[in-house]
Amino acid sequence: MGKVHLLTGTKETTTEYNLVRVNSAWTRKEKHSHTASTESVSPAMIYESLTDTGTCWTVVTPIIFSYKVIETHALLDPCNSTLLTGHTQGPQQADNMRIPKKPMKRFVVVDQEVYQIYGPEINKYFEANNVNFKILALPTTEENKSMEMALKILEELNSFSIDRRTEPVIAIGGGVCLDIVGLAASLYRRRTPYIRVPTTLLSYIDASVGAKTGVNFANCKNKLGAYIPPVATYLDLSFIKSVPRRHISNGMAEMLKMALMKHKELFELLEKHGQHLLESKFQSDSEVFGPCSQSVFRSTRLAIVTMLEELAPNLWEDDLNRLVDFGHLISPALEMRLLPALLHGEVVNIEMAYMVYVSWESGLVTEEEKNRIIGCMVGLELPVWHQACTMDMIQSSLQERLKHSGGLIRMPLPVGLGKAEIFNNTSTDVLISAHEKWSNELSTHAV
Ligand SMILES: NC(=O)c1ccc[n+]([C@@H]2O[C@H](COP(=O)([O-])OP(=O)(O)OC[C@H]3O[C@@H](n4cnc5c(N)ncnc54)[C@H](O)[C@@H]3O)[C@@H](O)[C@H]2O)c1
Ligand SMILES: [Zn+2]
Repeated sequence: MGKVHLLTGTKETTTEYNLVRVNSAWTRKEKHSHTASTESVSPAMIYESLTDTGTCWTVVTPIIFSYKVIETHALLDPCNSTLLTGHTQGPQQADNMRIPKKPMKRFVVVDQEVYQIYGPEINKYFEANNVNFKILALPTTEENKSMEMALKILEELNSFSIDRRTEPVIAIGGGVCLDIVGLAASLYRRRTPYIRVPTTLLSYIDASVGAKTGVNFANCKNKLGAYIPPVATYLDLSFIKSVPRRHISNGMAEMLKMALMKHKELFELLEKHGQHLLESKFQSDSEVFGPCSQSVFRSTRLAIVTMLEELAPNLWEDDLNRLVDFGHLISPALEMRLLPALLHGEVVNIEMAYMVYVSWESGLVTEEEKNRIIGCMVGLELPVWHQACTMDMIQSSLQERLKHSGGLIRMPLPVGLGKAEIFNNTSTDVLISAHEKWSNELSTHAV
């Protein structure tokens, strides 16, 4: 047994062990003891301490997730191998995957509406690449975002049977489809790799970038889920061309969130080119739209990068101080009341509009900045006020947040354009007078 260290001030004694592979077996070796260059050392540690009742082993095992978010064009062109091999680490590994004699196998879940539009192309893609595939087209709507739907996917996946190590499950659809399939894959054989192909703007810039999966449960959004990222996300803007205009606005609300929190240029792009982006449905036809078409790439890239910067260091959301929560403090309660009449991004925008008034009332943004932000929202065809967002609802939502965020309100607020800070002491007086001004100025925009 290794040396015992006495921790001062406690009766507990702790020994720290590395884990070293000797021949085929992992073996404990006391920390700092000699390891041969031929031995591999795990980054995991075991801490062994003696307690009053016996021994306590504490395992500390760093788990690293690595996933790719890849822009591509013509993802469904049979010559584009991204969908089949883009998740593999390097060209060598992609080659290896093509070597086996048996054809590749892929289980694909597609949103039913997406399948109606892109079904023939999807089938043709896998046929042309000689893939043994099964496509499950499902009505992955918010009302169906349930464990039942996840189980249905799991039953089909189980009977099709895939090699968990080399045959990732593919999800093609909006945020609902990606979230359900992600959860099903995370449950299957404890963690089967999966790939996300977002087909709405909201899922393109938001749901596809992070690690969260989930389904609704007990009348609460995303109450069941896991923090398991996909092995890869493939971003192809051409899917957005068939998305209804209102759903494009919906996605732009989440882009605006990132702009207001941390990127003035992104805000100015949305302010200046918002209408063009809506009209063009993020299709960059430079012959028709000229230099404006650059705003398509620049704005989506900035939205994704700013989102990745916030998510990567906090993949499991342990840090409660999150700028990405802007617009998401009151909106969960508001959303449960207003769904399905309003969409997620629309409800988020109503809260963001109110919070801009809180910032203004707190002296954090000028009147001109406030007017520019609201003007931008209106230009993006997003709602900026709703009668259901009452002072009672605001206060009860903030009370609820206090319970789940370590006793602090942690309210992200803009402090100028494209900059934000997190506040804990906004007074009730400020919240009330901001609400009055917000209602006086914007209730004419009621939806
Ligand atoms: N995991 C995350 O980090 C995360 C982040 C944000 C949102 N979400 C989740 O995402 C969901 C919202 O996503 P959404 O807005 O994409 O909704 P959605 O998946 O319901 O899609 C919206 C509608 O568009 C249709 N559609 C999808 N792609 C289309 C296309 N290319 N052409 C035509 N129609 C198309 C769908 O059938 C659906 O009717 C919510 O459930 C939310 O909880 C998850
Ligand atoms: Zn959101």
